[in-house]
Amino acid sequence: MTLASSSPAARRVSARIGAISESATLAVDAKAKALKAAGRPVIGFGAGEPDFPTPDYIVEAAVAACRNPKYHRYTPPGGLPELKEAIAAKTLRDSGYQVDAAQILVTNGGKQAIYEAFAAMLDPGDEVIVPAPYWTTYPESIRLAGGVPVEVTADETTGYRVSVEQLEAARTERTKVLLFVSPSNPTGAVYSREQTEEIGRWAAEHGLWVMTDEIYEHLVYGDARFTSLPVVVPELADRCVVVNGVAKTYAMTGWRVGWVVGPKDIVKAATNLQSHATSNVSNVAQAAALTAVAGDLTAVERMREAFDRRRRTIVRMLNEIEGVTCPEPEGAFYAYPSVKALLGKEIRGRRPASSLELAGVLLEEAEVAVVPGEAFGTPGYLRLSYALGDDDLVEGVSRLQKLLAEAAD
Ligand SMILES: Cc1ncc(COP(=O)(O)O)c(C=O)c1O
Repeated sequence: MTLASSSPAARRVSARIGAISESATLAVDAKAKALKAAGRPVIGFGAGEPDFPTPDYIVEAAVAACRNPKYHRYTPPGGLPELKEAIAAKTLRDSGYQVDAAQILVTNGGKQAIYEAFAAMLDPGDEVIVPAPYWTTYPESIRLAGGVPVEVTADETTGYRVSVEQLEAARTERTKVLLFVSPSNPTGAVYSREQTEEIGRWAAEHGLWVMTDEIYEHLVYGDARFTSLPVVVPELADRCVVVNGVAKTYAMTGWRVGWVVGPKDIVKAATNLQSHATSNVSNVAQAAALTAVAGDLTAVERMREAFDRRRRTIVRMLNEIEGVTCPEPEGAFYAYPSVKALLGKEIRGRRPASSLELAGVLLEEAEVAVVPGEAFGTPGYLRLSYALGDDDLVEGVSRLQKLLAEAAD
């Protein structure tokens, strides 16, 4: 039987889902892991996850939860009430933002929090201002919700921080939401309290909504300090959605627990969506997250110190390479060097013309996996995660130094 090409049945994948590209960061990580499994000594700077195991006391809470029949059943789709209370208390402790449990939705990781919050906020054609370099998931999530991402690009000369003037130039009649993330993935940029307040005031003045992603709140270095936007601009609270989770703070990426904190109507709408999509997050993972957020921050402080040491090493070693410029990241665990000066040079008989091609050469010739800037909306850069062991980090960047020293005109 042949179907007319205009027939809905003749189309296989829907246009909406077919337009989504694979997560580039996960793809690089998968390629590096596959090469490693095949016996190649690949060093991966691709993954956005701490290399530490989840602290024991958190794992123990999950083991106990497995044995508790209460957790063998469906629980409320929006999250265990005791976890929501603990998240409200943690939010006040860590960022000074006072919220109550009805303003919280527990999700399958920060990713689902972002997806559901955009779905709850956006109507078709609503514009979301997205500072670039951006984390790959944001534009996809916005488009899936019918929204239109509008990029505002900052480069290394401002430490990848956008200004209010740039944001204002991107604002239109259709703008609904500003996306704000500090510390940032992929650049590690941290906005100061003053900059955060200035941006928040601009959003408030124009009646905009804000989604602020606080997942790296505890990973800041040197003099940098984390600032929660609705705390410094309280008048935004009724139009501000905060996204957070346990993944990065407690080395719990695989457990899949995140949350939305927001105005009650948005949280209720997003909870309704989740009640049909996934129901409650795994109770075992929620019990682990409860122990994590109710506990102290000793474990994250130890990880932060290790990341800080690696950060200083990677930035120094990258800047020693001719053609590489790496501003100092002040948060998260990523370095985001410009490699524009290397493009078009000859390296082992090849002339990579883009950061995407350069990343391919680095993987093949140096067995080092990095994510090209194309994945973050800014070609000409590479993202290197420094959440890997100190020895691997030094070995990996030394390989880059050796290979890139061969770059010739
Ligand atoms: C900026 C940012 N937000 C949110 C997330 C989501 O994390 P998860 O879905 O693992 O909780 C990530 C993960 O890489 C991230 O980098």
